[in-house]
Amino acid sequence: MTGAVYPVPPEVAARARIDRAEYDHRVASAAANPESYWMAEGQCLDWITPYTRAKATSFDEGDFGIRWFADGTLNVSANCLDRHLATRGDQVAILWEGDEPGETRRITYRELHAEVCRFANVLKGRGVRRGDRVALYLPMIVEAAVAMLACTRIGAIHTIVFGGFSPDSLADRLRDCDVRLVVTADEGCRGGKRVPLKANVDRAVANCPGVSDVIVVRRTGGAVTMVEGRDRWWDVEMATAAPDCAPEAMGAEDPLFILYTSGSTGKPKGVVHTTGGYLVWVTTTFRDVFDHRDGDIFWCTADVGWVTGHSYVVYGPLANGATTVMFDGVPNYPDHGRFWKTIDLLGVTIFYTAPTAIRALMREGEDWVTASSRASLRLLGSVGEPINPEAWEWYHRVVGDRRCPIVDTWWQTETGGMLIAPLPGATDLKPGSATKPLPGVLPEIVDAEGQVLSGACEGNLVIADSWPGQMRTLWGDHDRFFQTYFTTYPGKYFTGDGCRRDEDGYYWITGRVDDVINVSGHRMGTAEVESALVLHPKVAEAAVVGMPHDVKGQGIYAYVTLNAGEAASDELRQTLRAWVRTEIGPIATPDAIQFAPGLPKTRSGKIMRRILRKIAEGDTSSLGDISTLADPSVVESLVAERQ
Ligand code: WTA
Repeated sequence: MTGAVYPVPPEVAARARIDRAEYDHRVASAAANPESYWMAEGQCLDWITPYTRAKATSFDEGDFGIRWFADGTLNVSANCLDRHLATRGDQVAILWEGDEPGETRRITYRELHAEVCRFANVLKGRGVRRGDRVALYLPMIVEAAVAMLACTRIGAIHTIVFGGFSPDSLADRLRDCDVRLVVTADEGCRGGKRVPLKANVDRAVANCPGVSDVIVVRRTGGAVTMVEGRDRWWDVEMATAAPDCAPEAMGAEDPLFILYTSGSTGKPKGVVHTTGGYLVWVTTTFRDVFDHRDGDIFWCTADVGWVTGHSYVVYGPLANGATTVMFDGVPNYPDHGRFWKTIDLLGVTIFYTAPTAIRALMREGEDWVTASSRASLRLLGSVGEPINPEAWEWYHRVVGDRRCPIVDTWWQTETGGMLIAPLPGATDLKPGSATKPLPGVLPEIVDAEGQVLSGACEGNLVIADSWPGQMRTLWGDHDRFFQTYFTTYPGKYFTGDGCRRDEDGYYWITGRVDDVINVSGHRMGTAEVESALVLHPKVAEAAVVGMPHDVKGQGIYAYVTLNAGEAASDELRQTLRAWVRTEIGPIATPDAIQFAPGLPKTRSGKIMRRILRKIAEGDTSSLGDISTLADPSVVESLVAERQ
């Protein structure tokens, strides 16, 4: 199968907004005159004050800075709602599908506009002002989008915390950016199980003196404790709020949201995106990569707690006046046909999901898929991790009936939106490759010394120049932002990904080259899992690496050294797994724990992760040079005890 090429179907090219000639033209004009190219791209939005200049950026230490459309002002909610009211006020904006089949809600642009204005007024009534931080810890319900847009309406900065994170993880984030108000729900529903969101908020907020208000959506009606003076019900507040609220004129470079993501060291970092550049980027990439047109029903299965949910469930689709699906369930509940039945039920035309979901459903057999018609589908998408060619072929053949192109989109929390992705009417597809950069995006592959490689090559992926959707800083730590992304290869943005480029100029992402692992499309810092493990009283030391996993892409493999006198046992293994779940959240649960009397360290005490990775991968024949280890015999016992 490898080496297969899927040419653009002629009927797709004929109807597409961008065909090959147009793609080439855009790449050339972005290269020839970047300023005029980006000046024009910014016109996808309605500006309150027009910008007079597009790009003012430098990745160099001396004059480092990233500013786009900087003298323009705009409002995100006005771009996502108000500007559509005259032409598509009665069109469905959000098609909501609950955890239980049959639980649905349709909300038009006009209705969504009114709800957003109401909630903006509720926020104002609680004293939230422009620039204040508001956290959302919510299920995938319409209220999540309402709360996001309401923040943007008044210029408050939202930070969404995925509902699967523990109270401690939530509290870390609330404190890091000094959140004033939290929006949550009584409980969430996932695959028929309840998630105690409000109870988690209560535990988190107990350690966050800055949080003065909690607003609670009634999702399940489950029992919760309401704290007098602090907690209020969403529906009660909304009932008396006025349905109009003038949009605040925000500077293009004013922060829009903070989203925490895992890095290779320390605590999760608060990625800051700003108003103008981010919205331009998600608006144009949504429009072009999904070749969006009126009448499409777009379904991105990501949770709004992740960047994919921000950019391609909410902002990109709504800024384009699309109909976007919000799904509050999981792919295998009540059965493995849920995605495909829902596609038929809602008439989904564009479906965007993660390889891990595709691999999990592929294992269940084709009958679950073929029991549905999927006749409405015209385009498929993939995001979050490399898609193996086998899963790609299955997605194409079984889900898409060989009719639907697949856009494999490479991007990151930091990039705001897609950077390397096919355009369905312009790009021939190769299974497993995210194909080519979008116009105006300048990827390069560098070797370990930072030498730029040319032609077919493999190395580390950097981006040579800025694009509007790029993150601007890490909340409260601009220096760490510069150090993390711009010093490994000075003058370039370092992605943290390895990449191969083939003779046709196609990019093949090979995975992270830093201490970040990608578990089911979710980023996890190995350092975070290690810190959680060493908090356990019986653990002396821990080292965590990724291991290959058939469904998750990567699994979490933890080496644990116990304190003297503590005995290793299967029971302790289970206890430690549960411990990490509670400390961070279920997504961080180790798949394998190996008790190790010692870890391979250099004489200076540095853990040699390269060796640990190899052992976890089961690749013990080529451990490389171990002569620099303080005690080379450690390796032998690690290999013997591999899980
Ligand atoms: C990986 C998710 C290969 C990559 C949008 C990146 C991918 C990390 C792809 C970012 C893809 C994302 N092919 N790898 N199409 N998309 N990745 O921040 O390693 O959650 O650095 O953003 O996911 O994950 P994040």
